[in-house]
Amino acid sequence: MSADKKLFIKTYGCQMNVYDSERMAEALGGKGYVQTDTPDDADMILLNTCHIREKAAEKVYSELGRFKGLKAANPDLKIGVAGCVAQAEGEEIIRRQPMVDLVVGPQSYHRLPAMDDTVRRGAKALDTDFPEDDKFDMLKKRKRASRAPTAFLTVQEGCDKFCAFCVVPYTRGAEVSRPSARVISEAHELVESGVKEITLLGQNVNAYHGHEGGLAGLIWELDKIDGLERIRFTTSHPNDMDDALIDAHGSCDKLMPYLHLPVQSGSDRILKAMNRKHTAESYIKLIERIRAARPDLLLSGDFIVGFPGETDEDFEDTMSLIREVNYGQAYSFKYSTRPGTPAAEKPQLPDDVAADRLQRLQALLKSQQIANQDAMVGGRVKVLFEKEGREAGQLIGKSEYLHAVYAEAPKEALGQVVEAKVVESSPNSLAGVCL
Ligand code: 5AD
Ligand code: SF4
Repeated sequence: MSADKKLFIKTYGCQMNVYDSERMAEALGGKGYVQTDTPDDADMILLNTCHIREKAAEKVYSELGRFKGLKAANPDLKIGVAGCVAQAEGEEIIRRQPMVDLVVGPQSYHRLPAMDDTVRRGAKALDTDFPEDDKFDMLKKRKRASRAPTAFLTVQEGCDKFCAFCVVPYTRGAEVSRPSARVISEAHELVESGVKEITLLGQNVNAYHGHEGGLAGLIWELDKIDGLERIRFTTSHPNDMDDALIDAHGSCDKLMPYLHLPVQSGSDRILKAMNRKHTAESYIKLIERIRAARPDLLLSGDFIVGFPGETDEDFEDTMSLIREVNYGQAYSFKYSTRPGTPAAEKPQLPDDVAADRLQRLQALLKSQQIANQDAMVGGRVKVLFEKEGREAGQLIGKSEYLHAVYAEAPKEALGQVVEAKVVESSPNSLAGVCL
């Protein structure tokens, strides 16, 4: 195999897909592929897809349609669909779009090199199994080439929670935790290649059970790694925030004061219909306990509006919860019917009702985000600089609370944590002056 095949990966959806795309690129690197940032000169195009909300599959089919010309111009171009749409649609993708050569589900990426051999022979390759083995373990070791100072590390996949709206338990399968020894050795490799901050990923990351003491146990192991300065994790379910993890937020200096803890709704009736297995009050109590451990914690969340049966009163309960909690930032979505999930069977709300609620809810969340950021002006943040800004002499990094921070700093500060005074707050970032 020649050493200069070009691979273009387009990534949709969550951070786990970003991580998976990196690992797929590494796996195909062993077959002589190097990544390119345009599909135009690629020998392989992979769409790493997301299925969490509506029209995901339709978007993938229309994106594929746009590659027709490229395929006609280069018969050696191979096109693959990976990720959750691949898992959900399977061979239907090749049936509907015969120019697709390869369909690979999220649990089978380690088989990509063999699948590449198959497609290079002119055959189709399809793999949407849920194999027993750890795909990450089967993948090539991560490269030591110099890399960004921040990295994702998937420690857990799948979910057993079965929220009534969500496809994840079907597309990503049952909850599986990677053994901590493998996670820790991967973390060492990342740190040796210059990584200062690791974000542990999982669809239900705080349900991690690959180490004694769960996710908190793993965090304390990672805390011992010299050179690793920051640890984060996402995304969590309120029912898996155990005492040890709450304590770690108060006592582990490397664990950053930021927590993404989705509640979805503030109405107990809707939470029950969503099969969330917690109430608005239990969530608020939990937040109080976490804030007692770490008072400056910046809280993030996910909200769904327009879930089947949601009344004006239910929606007002969600607005009240948001006012009570005060989020530093959050994600919010209109409920989207996912075929095969329990909520899809229920009568749906009119779209304009949901759209109106979403607008109101987002306005409230935005006002909280802005107020929180404005309150930081005059204070100090610790910034891990990740890249150069657009203006000369400017670097961009993240505060401990995950704000984007711009500041004038020498290039040597890239990859370093620097203390800065916040001088200005914009809707999505802070401006700082290094101290
Ligand atoms: N409709 C709208 N939002 C959804 N999410 C998951 N499934 C759906 C759906 N069917 C949101 C939830 C979840 C986030 C990742 O995506 O808020 O926390
Ligand atoms: Fe989906 Fe998260 Fe609920 Fe699991 S806990 S079913 S991933 S929303």
